[in-house]
Formats: sequence, structure tokens, C-alpha cells
Amino acid sequence: MNSEKLINLFEAFMKKDDDAFYSIAQEIIKEEERKKHHLLAAQLKRILAENSISSNIPPRHMPPIPRDNEKGFKLLEVKKFFLSWDDVVLSKETEETLKQIIRELEKEDILATYGLRPKRKILFYGPPGTGKTLTAKVMSSVIGYPLVFVRFESVISSYLGETASNLRKIFDFIEKGKWVVLFDEFDIIGKQRDDPTEHGEIKRVVNNFMLMLENYEGDSLIIAATNHPHILDIGVWRRFDEIVYFDLPDKKRRKKLFEKYLKVLKKDKKFDITKLAEQSMGFSGADIEQACIDALKMAILNDRAVVSFDDVKKAVHKQKKKIKARKGN
Ligand SMILES: Nc1ncnc2c1ncn2[C@@H]1O[C@H](COP(=O)(O)OP(=O)(O)O)[C@@H](O)[C@H]1O
Ligand SMILES: [Mg+2]
Repeated sequence: MNSEKLINLFEAFMKKDDDAFYSIAQEIIKEEERKKHHLLAAQLKRILAENSISSNIPPRHMPPIPRDNEKGFKLLEVKKFFLSWDDVVLSKETEETLKQIIRELEKEDILATYGLRPKRKILFYGPPGTGKTLTAKVMSSVIGYPLVFVRFESVISSYLGETASNLRKIFDFIEKGKWVVLFDEFDIIGKQRDDPTEHGEIKRVVNNFMLMLENYEGDSLIIAATNHPHILDIGVWRRFDEIVYFDLPDKKRRKKLFEKYLKVLKKDKKFDITKLAEQSMGFSGADIEQACIDALKMAILNDRAVVSFDDVKKAVHKQKKKIKARKGN
């Protein structure tokens, strides 16, 4: 780390300038990553994240977090992330679409002079574990707006009458700032909609949400993510400015994922990433990460400083069984 950064970091701390502190901290993490000090970078990231359990946003920038009247739990979480495009492995096409969304937001003033507006309402869909939630965190990091994380389940799970008022509170909060807002596992509303009991009530709530989304004209980027696009009714799609499909990774991306999630240990001479990519057809990014974690643990707990090809092959095999079991359900 150069001395200028160190001085700036100390100054930011003494002046209690949290924004400056976080941005210098982020630069330092990036620098360590560039130097391939991955363990140190991961540790620094963790420290920033962990010391911010509910939120690491300086309090003076934070409106009060809305709560559910009945149970009192928080309806959303606000967090800053320090990720980059390198942290997620996507198809070229998907990455381009997402980067274009960010570019439009960055140049919104120029667009406005021509009467144009950036895309702000995005739907992410695709199988579980393909990086939808992760990508929302990356976009929040890259654009520099904190992430507002709305777990739809908690909004909906209380009395239905309460749900509409919860949604209103969430949108009121969103309107007070510039955020990336993630309505995660958004499919819950679609799912319940098919439930014949309470059908009318749920329908009202869905329409309510869609209307609030449609009327929203603020500065935030709103992302709704779902694993089950087929249950969202046709009308839902029209409300979004962009729809992004997250597919299962192809062979090339699977290779990249193995490299990414195994990089903390050296590999033995036999190691053949291409073969692993071939043997993991149908795996999601999360499945590959899980297999890699299992393999790394096997090596570490056996006091080996090297992860062997056999470790990973075994872990891939085990993960394959899990995927099969999951599909059976
Ligand atoms: N495309 C990807 N690139 C890198 N890592 C991924 C990818 N997809 C999944 N992962 C890993 O799996 C974890 C879970 O993925 P997540 O983003 O929650 O998937 P989803 O929201 O689509 O269900 C991520 O935090 C990441 O560690
Ligand atoms: Mg998710």
C-alpha cells in the first residue's frame, strides 16, 4: 500500500469522514487483489462487511428502516458492498446488458438533456444459484449506490392486509435515497397467487406492488429477481425496462468458476480444469462453488497445502448426486 493511501485513510478516520474511509478502504482492497493477495483482500472485505451487521452506511445518510407493524421485524436491509465485475462469471451478452444499464445511470444527466431516461426497473430471472443476488451486489458496488435488500417473504408472510402497508413503507423508504433495490425471491408473490385460498387478496397485493413499481419515478435502480419466471403473469413483464436471463454456465464459464473458487490453494500436477468443466455439466455457479469449498476443506483438513485433482473430482461427484436429489423433489 502506498503512503499516500495510508495518510488519507488516517485522515478520513480522524475526521470521521466515513464516505472517504470506505472509498479508500475499497481502493486498498482492489490493490491487494491486483497483487494477487487474495486471502488478505477477502479478510479486509469481511471486516468491512461484518462490522456493519444491519448497515454500514453512515447513520446521517440513513432514513429509519421501516418495520412490520405486527411482528416488528425489519422490512429491508441496507448494505454497502465492495465487489467488481470480476466477482461474478456471466455470459458476455449478459455482462454487456448489465454494464450498459450502469453506463446509462452514470450518464443520466447527458441523457436527460435529450429527454431520455436510463433504465431503472430490471427483472432478473433464471435457475437458482446462477448469480442473480450476487450480481445485484456487484451492480450496487460498481455504481456506488448502497444495496437495499428486500426479502419478499418477510413482507408477505404477515397478515395480507398488512402486506400492502408494508409495501407502501418500503417504497416510501426507497424514495428517500438513491439505491440499488433488490426485491429478491420475488417469485413468492407469483407462487402464492396460484394458491386458490386467499387468491383474490394476493392478487390485490401483486397488483399493488406492480402499480407502485410503475409509479416509481425516483433515482434508484430497482431489480426484482425470480427463479420461476413461468409463474409470473404476462402483465408483470411489461412493467420492466429490461429483462435479464441468468442461464446455467457453459463449459467455458464453468472452467472460469473452478479457477475462481480454487484459487486460494495451489493445485497438484495432475490438475485438469477442462476435465472438471466437462464433468460438471448442468452445475450452477453455486454448485461449482460448493464443490470447490468441499475440495479445499478436504485438502486443508488433511494438512495439504495443495488441492488435488482427485479432491475436486470427488467433490464434483458428490455435488452431482445432490443436484439429482434436488431435481427429484
Ligand atoms: N455466475 C456466478 N459467478 C460467480 N459466482 C457465482 C455465480 N453464480 C453463483 N455463484 C456463487 O453462488 C452463490 C449463490 O448465488 P446467488 O447469487 O445467490 O444465486 P441466485 O440469486 O441466482 O440464486 C454466490 O454468492 C456465488 O458465491
Ligand atoms: Mg438469489
